[in-house]
Parts: sequence; structure tokens; C-alpha cells
Amino acid sequence: MGQRIIVVANRLPVSWNGEQWVASPGGLVRALTPVLQEAEGAWVGWPGIPDSHHEPFEHDGIEQRPVPLSTEEVDGFYYGFCNGTLWPLYHDAIVPPEFHRHTWRPYVAVNRRYAEETAAAVRPGDIAWVQDYQLQLVPSMLRAMRSEVTIGFYLHIPFPPVEVFARLPWRRQILEGLLGSDVIAFQTRQSADNFARAARRFAGAVSLGRRDLQWAGRAVHLQPAPIAIDTAEFERMARLPQVQRRAAEVRHELGDVDHIILGMDRLDYTKGIDLRLKAFAGLLERAAEGERRFAFVQAAVPSREQVPAYQQLRAEIEQLVGRINGAYGAPGWSPVSYLYRTLPFEEIIAYYVAADVMLVTPLRDGMNLVAKEYAACRVDGDGVLILSEFAGAAEQMRSAIIVNPYDVDGVTDSMQQAASMSDREVKTRMRKLQRVVRESDVFEWAQRCLSTLETR
Ligand code: G6P
Repeated sequence: MGQRIIVVANRLPVSWNGEQWVASPGGLVRALTPVLQEAEGAWVGWPGIPDSHHEPFEHDGIEQRPVPLSTEEVDGFYYGFCNGTLWPLYHDAIVPPEFHRHTWRPYVAVNRRYAEETAAAVRPGDIAWVQDYQLQLVPSMLRAMRSEVTIGFYLHIPFPPVEVFARLPWRRQILEGLLGSDVIAFQTRQSADNFARAARRFAGAVSLGRRDLQWAGRAVHLQPAPIAIDTAEFERMARLPQVQRRAAEVRHELGDVDHIILGMDRLDYTKGIDLRLKAFAGLLERAAEGERRFAFVQAAVPSREQVPAYQQLRAEIEQLVGRINGAYGAPGWSPVSYLYRTLPFEEIIAYYVAADVMLVTPLRDGMNLVAKEYAACRVDGDGVLILSEFAGAAEQMRSAIIVNPYDVDGVTDSMQQAASMSDREVKTRMRKLQRVVRESDVFEWAQRCLSTLETR
């Protein structure tokens, strides 16, 4: 039997709907399913329901190994340390990260459980591929249990500048946890550089070159590997007649305005939704009274609703939407349409097809796949992407209109620029963006990461 691949992620790729296991949507799951089927691999993760216990089972040809979490662990580990400490810290401390010893302890304990579950699943020579900030201690823990396994780690979110990371009371432990890997991969070169600096300063790692470190007598390779999407699938969906019809309907429902502007995010303070709304209000402010040239649709998927910062953000955004529609709307006409829910996949694609301008203006983002999805869905070759310089995607998608999302007037200017751009420039820019998403899709990404691991 060849080298097997064991993916270790906070969540399993399937969830229990009360009656059966159903596949969770998402790019990572789609990309890895064929790879794991082929490699007879397994997936180690939490089924998403506290206090539930399930034996390992097979789904879609892949062995699933559920890691149970108690309600207290979900509070301390997931809501507490992952999403109250690491998430804000790694996103430039946009909201203040909280540092609590009582959430650090469950982070360590839960990481150990994932490492143990993985140790039980691997055989000598296998690859264990650990995903994201929830599991940064797993590589070293697993190495101590199973030295004969190749260990990779992929960080889906940014690794912060050393000055920000330095605040973390457990910075050395986190770095040492990650340095148990053979390869640590990042969304951007910037994150890889930030990590190298932190590992040298706080964990005594030694540089063997820009992308190679030595730590505890072992070599650790750092790999920038920007994640991508299933481009062909988005293009196929965007061409479906029912999607094209729905897009035309959306345009009509929005009053057949000249320019539909779209935002599509998880409701998260990293996404800059509030500043984006203020920038749109600026655009309405500049327009003549009664003019209805622009409509803005903001879809926000509910997320981490038990974390106070997310509750507060939701209230602020809803107030802002109300204020803008109150100031600029008219009976039967609201310039902002706000959708706080999870939209069906086809509906999301229809919005991408309907939107003339896509606003992707996070304050900090590991990659942001919405930017790539929009480009893939513009099968007519038009559409303008306005992209934050603080999204990982900005390292690749240089022909978007690149903005500083904190500069509200600047974002308003960029919307005006998008609205008055010549067809020729729109198409030239979009062609270059589409080249990026066609050159590298999520299958190529997975292959690139895994082949780096196979040769270690
Ligand atoms: C980001 C993280 C993922 C996480 C996702 C959804 O993309 O990088 O690890 O799964 O957000 O967040 P949730 O907390 O619902 O898993």
C-alpha cells in the first residue's frame, strides 16, 4: 500500500443532520475528496455537535474519524482560544484579542486529543496534513507520538507581523507546536516571512535560507501556497440557463439600476462590511437627489454567533443599513439590500453573475476566495473587482482596483471609477483576473502542497 494521506482539521468534511451524514460544502472538502479517495486516506475532525460520540465510519470512500468535544471544550477551545484569542490576534488585532489561561488550557487539551486520534489513524510512512489555526500544537504533539510520519501544516489565515504576534503569552509554545512540521504552508509570501521572523526570535529557530529553518536538529520548510477555487465548476454554474435567468431576475428586482454592487462575506469583523457600507453611503451622497443609478447588495452569512464581538458587529451593521436606507431610500426603493443568511450555492452564483462591481474589502484576510469566485463567474468577460490590499488575494490579483479599506473616501472613489470605466478597460482587467484563477485551481493547489510533502 502506498503513502496514505490523513487530513486533520477542526471540522470533519461531513456533518450530522439528525438522520444522516451529509457532505459540508466548501472548497477544501471538494479539492481533497478525490485526493483522499485515491490515497485511501482518512479525515480527523470534529463533527460540529458538542457532546456527541461517533465511532469512525466511512463516507464517500473516505474514512472519517470524529473527535468528540464537550460543551465546555467548545466554549474554551473553539469560542474562547480559537475565536476570542487567535482569530483576532492573527488578523492584526482588529478587535482586541483576549488572553485567558482558562481558555489556553482547553486549547492544549483539545489539540492533544486531535494528535492522539491522528496517531491512532496513521501508519509509518503516511502523510498527516494538519489544517489551520485551531490545531497549531498538533504537529509537535504528533511527532512525539509518531516520529516516522511526514507532517504538513497549512495555515488558512494570515500569520501576523512579529510585533503583533509578540503579545501572545503562549507564543513560544505555538511556534514550537508548528515547528514539529516538515513543511508549513501559508497563503502568502508575507505570512511565510512573518513566521520565519517569529520562529527565529521567539523559538530559537535558525535560518538555512529564506524558506528553510532548522529547529531541534530538524529542517522545516516554509511554503507560500495561495489557495484557489474549483474554477471550472464556478464557470459551469455561471453558464447554466437557470442561473443566467435568476441573475436577470435579480437585476430586475433591484430596480434595473445602472450598477449593481455586491458584497458577499461571512459576518466577521475582519471583512470590513461596516466601512464598505459607509463608502457606499458616500457614493449616494455624491449623487443627485432622486437618482437611482446604484444598488448595493450585502450578503452576510451568520457565523460564530455566540462570540460577543460578532453579536456587536451584527447590531452595528443592521443599524448602518437602516440609517442608509432611511436617508436615501424612498417608498418601494432601498439602495442597500442586506441578506443575513446562508444563500443556496446557485443563488450565490446568480448574484456574482448579476453584479457589475464586486466589493471585497476585508481589513485583513488570509486569501479571500470570493474575489476568485467572482472572477470565475464573469463568463461574459466584464465586471469590476474592487479588492483590499490587505487580502491575501491582492498578491495575485493585481489588475483589480486595489484599495485601502480603511480609506472610506478612497473606496467611494473606487466605486465611481468602476462605474465610469470604459468597456475596454473593464474587459482587459477582467481577462487578467481570469488568467489568475484559470492558471491555478484548487486541485493544482492540493497537488502542489502534497507533492512538496511527498518529497520530504
Ligand atoms: C475561516 C477559517 C476556517 C474556518 C472558517 C469558518 O475560513 O480559516 O478554519 O473553518 O473560517 O469558521 P468556523 O469557525 O465556522 O469553522
